[in-house]
Formats: sequence, C-alpha cells, structure tokens
Amino acid sequence: MIDKNRLPGHVAVIMDGNGRWAKKRNLPRAAGHNAGMKAMREIVRRASDLGIGYLTVYAFSTENWKRSVEEVSGIFKLLVMFVTSDLRELKENNVRMNILGDCSKLPEDAKKSVERAVSETESNTGLMFNVALNYGSREEMLNAVKEIAQKYKNEDIELDDISDELMDSCLYTGHLGIPDPDLIIRTSGEKRLSNFLMWQASYSEFVFTDTLWPDFTPEEFERCIEEYQSRDRRFGGRRK
Ligand code: FPP
Repeated sequence: MIDKNRLPGHVAVIMDGNGRWAKKRNLPRAAGHNAGMKAMREIVRRASDLGIGYLTVYAFSTENWKRSVEEVSGIFKLLVMFVTSDLRELKENNVRMNILGDCSKLPEDAKKSVERAVSETESNTGLMFNVALNYGSREEMLNAVKEIAQKYKNEDIELDDISDELMDSCLYTGHLGIPDPDLIIRTSGEKRLSNFLMWQASYSEFVFTDTLWPDFTPEEFERCIEEYQSRDRRFGGRRK
C-alpha cells in the first residue's frame, strides 16, 4: 500500500517501448504511440488523484527528430489530439500543464495547441503536468550556462554568485519552479537516462520496469511509488 504521507513530490517518466509494443502486434509504430498516449492519460489521472505535486513525461527528445518524418509528424498530431480531447478534463481536475523544451521548432498547429493548454491551465493549483517536448538535458544546461555567462558579462553577478541555486533557476525546470524529481521511472527494460533531466536527477531514485509503455497501468505506477517508498534516501549523508 502507498503511504499517502510520503508521496514523491515529483515523479518523472521515460515512456519507452511504444515501437516494440506495436511491432509485437504487427501494427504500425503510430499505433504504439497512440496506445502510449492513452497510457499517459491514465497516469496523469492517477497522479492527480493521488495528490502528487509534479509529473513530468518525456514525450519527444531533441534526438527524436532523427526518426522518419512520418513518425515525427504522427507524434505531434497525437499531441494536438491529446489537447483537443483532454484539456477540459485537465481543467476540471485543476491540473496545470507545462512544456519543458524548445517549442519554437514545433509544427505550427502543435505549438498553438500547447500554448493554449499552458495558458488555459496556468492558474490551476493541483498537479503540475510537464510534457518534455523537443527536450534535451544537454541543451537545457547549455542554455543555462549561456544565461549565467550573460549575467556575468552584464556585471549582474560575480564569479562567486555562480551556485547550484543559480544554475537550478536557469534551467527550464527552474524557470517554472519545478523541484528535482524524487523518482524517475523508465519502462521497456532500458536502463539509461537518455539526455533527460541530467542535472536534476542527481539524487533521484530510479525504478526500471520491463513493461512496454502502452501496457503501463496506474496500478503499476502505484507499485513504482511503493518501491520508491521502500528505499533509504540519504542524499550523500549517512543513514540516520
Ligand atoms: C518511446 O517509444 C516513445 C516516444 C519517443 C514517444 C512518446 C509519445 C507518447 C507516449 C504518446 C504521445 C504523447 C504526447 C504528449 C505527444 P519508442 O518509440 O522509442 O519505442 P521503441 O524503443 O520500442 O521503439
């Protein structure tokens, strides 16, 4: 059973395995992403019901542009569909949606959809649901370093002002006031971070599962949280 008093404040998920799920069924990869979107919807609902503060999902990385034009445009079409079908429910449930990543390169209709979802939910105070889109951790850190260099050049800060906190505040997550993830879940048996939240994951707990993302259920999500709750987090200190 989950201990509701010790929930992870921020859960981040690497939703992996859509392609393999489709292949196993002799379906096109797009069918895997479509099923993945449905699984994501259920996890957002459960995270919101449980009272989790922040849920971040890795939907599209800066490296995913290497996939076929057809697959890439299919993923962005799904994003538009998700906003069209789910925005009302997100609003009813007091969910705030945000994007982590560089949206300027998104197709126009996808950009419009996310802008609408972000602006229409910005005053909500429940779950903050962050979609990492055209997101890459190295790019995020390079942007932060440039922001800091600019502040130094403008003589707004001195060398000794460059700290963990300043770096935090210059990341996409920092701009939005999102804390570091307590728990990172990756599905499909892969055990890599794949350029996801590399600065923020310094003390995160990792749970890996062999389940392919479209088969990942709210019940398994709860089991991952139970696993997290069984861990002994010391943040580099000693066991109390
Ligand atoms: C990884 O599976 C999944 C993705 C790159 C896309 C994630 C997208 C969704 C879950 C649905 C869409 C949701 C939104 C918000 C757009 P993979 O294709 O890498 O799987 P594979 O490793 O088995 O090939």
